[in-house]
Amino acid sequence: MAGLIPESIIEDVRRAADIVEVISEVVVLKPAGRNLVGLCPFHNEKTPSFTVSPEKQIFHCFGCGQGGNVFAFTMQHQGISFPEAVRALAERYHISIPDTARDGASANGADQRARLQAANALALEFYRKALAHPVQGQPARDYLSRRGLSAALIQAFQLGFAPPGWDHLARFLKGRRVPDAVAEKAGLIAPRQSGSGFYDRFRGRIIFPIIDLSGKVAGFGGRVLDDSLPKYLNSPETPLYNKRRCLYGLYQARDHCRAKKAVYIVEGYLDLLALHQYGIANAVATLGTALTAEQVALLKRFVGSGDIVLVFDGDAAGQKAAERTRPIFEQLHSRFQPGSYQRESGVNTRVLELPGGHDPDTFLREKGAEAFTALAAKAKGMVAFLIDAALRQHGDTIEGRALAVGELVGPLQAVSDPVTRSLYVKLLAERVGVDEAAIARRLSRGGTHRPAPVSGEPRAGVPERLPAIERQLTAMMIQYPEVLPDIDKRNLTSYFKNLQLKAVAEAVLIHYRESGTADGVIERLADPQLQRLAAALAIREEQWTVSGCRQLIAQFVRARSRPSREMLDAIAQAEQAADDGRWQQLLLERQKAARQGERTRRKLLNR
Ligand code: UTP
Ligand code: MN
Repeated sequence: MAGLIPESIIEDVRRAADIVEVISEVVVLKPAGRNLVGLCPFHNEKTPSFTVSPEKQIFHCFGCGQGGNVFAFTMQHQGISFPEAVRALAERYHISIPDTARDGASANGADQRARLQAANALALEFYRKALAHPVQGQPARDYLSRRGLSAALIQAFQLGFAPPGWDHLARFLKGRRVPDAVAEKAGLIAPRQSGSGFYDRFRGRIIFPIIDLSGKVAGFGGRVLDDSLPKYLNSPETPLYNKRRCLYGLYQARDHCRAKKAVYIVEGYLDLLALHQYGIANAVATLGTALTAEQVALLKRFVGSGDIVLVFDGDAAGQKAAERTRPIFEQLHSRFQPGSYQRESGVNTRVLELPGGHDPDTFLREKGAEAFTALAAKAKGMVAFLIDAALRQHGDTIEGRALAVGELVGPLQAVSDPVTRSLYVKLLAERVGVDEAAIARRLSRGGTHRPAPVSGEPRAGVPERLPAIERQLTAMMIQYPEVLPDIDKRNLTSYFKNLQLKAVAEAVLIHYRESGTADGVIERLADPQLQRLAAALAIREEQWTVSGCRQLIAQFVRARSRPSREMLDAIAQAEQAADDGRWQQLLLERQKAARQGERTRRKLLNR
């Protein structure tokens, strides 16, 4: 995929994108010396250790070790791949990416998206005008007011109306010079089965536009005004609309989610609107699918380590809700899902089951907002909810408990973090009244074992655990490129013992040889872990002087040409133990090592 975006375009995007601007959208940054600091979006903290350097265009968190350039930030934050991050930033900074797909005639991706967006925007204009039309829009306005929605809310959510009739929108779009193929691709019209021409997808329906985070229409939902079927119709999947990624109302709710550090997730368009109508504005709706890991990752951008509350209709009789929750739970805890970069312990997902056959809309109308928030305050954690649901289903007998445990083994096995898993096992043991060890045995027995975590996990304080001299040298190389010719000449990096630092240091040299600067070296590092390391080394505020650098280099040379601590210890030991044979042998080895060391030293100094 990455190969599809030309290197020069990636470079253009990197140059155009401003890391401070991008990060400021999600983190409040305050100046601190030459850098800016804020609360890290990748881990939970109270004092800011997340640092952004406008000069170097990199970020680094001293708390969790995340770091890198603007691409790395976008990838980690949105849980997307490198090419996706490049595309997202390209779009934001108006850089078009030529399409190198086989079909040379087709428009490039960004252009196509722009055309679909334009078609959607026109359709929205049409639907909103139809709703406002004194005659045509009357039944729809009546319906919405029967459902308790205010004019202000209708305005805020840009609701519309698709009038009855086969091709009102199709003709409107034609009049606005939208090609049929574009309108069809956007899911607004579909070809007639018989004869030629197109008909409107949405007819005689209230229209709910689904707005993406940039404020553009990604797709639409439409509800009939009566009991006819299907009750709801949604846009098909298009390049703009993916129902597993979008969330209805997120655009309108995002600031509220951030402020409240919590979000309610409901299942219906009108439920979502009812929550807003009752003043509960930190809410979104899924679009006819179960919540996905991608959506959770997206929501975490706004609630941080706060609460994600799944709200289920009371008609689900618990069991259905549990069946819907289990796969979500498994997805959340599997590290190999896209977007699950965040530490799982940070996901605080709770389940709110409404009583007595209510959905959020009917509940609010009957009981009011306070009753809703009171219930929400008591909402169970997801695991507790699953355990209770299983016990409720199987009955609180010995057999029932055994069945409940059996049912939860699978989900708990999916929890890849051992600490989290053992906490859940403990909770299950307590609720079911079974020995914890017995449950643990059951888990390991039934187990499809998952591979150990590979990457993506923040590694706190990585730089601190590295050998001090090599770390300082590498930091110096990045921050004070004046020393690079000298280091290159002496080939110092080939004596690095730490492979990560060696890789970074060598990348700095290669980059310097080609560009005459150390800036931008992070882009050369393909491995995200190395990117993080390089960012961590680059961002520290250190004062380098020529003499300081010389001293550091000399120190490194001495360290590399000195006999090792272990050898000296062994010699001292043999001497104490009066083990002459061993002592002799060690001295010979030491002489050899010293000659080797001297050769190393000469090489280091003279080359
Ligand atoms: P519900 O049937 O619970 O409807 O569907 P609702 O949201 O409570 O709407 P009202 O109150 O009857 O008007 C919940 C959600 O499931 C999806 C829609 O997203 C809907 O909001 N759905 C439902 C469909 O996509 N198609 C359907 O035919 C029905
Ligand atoms: Mn409803």
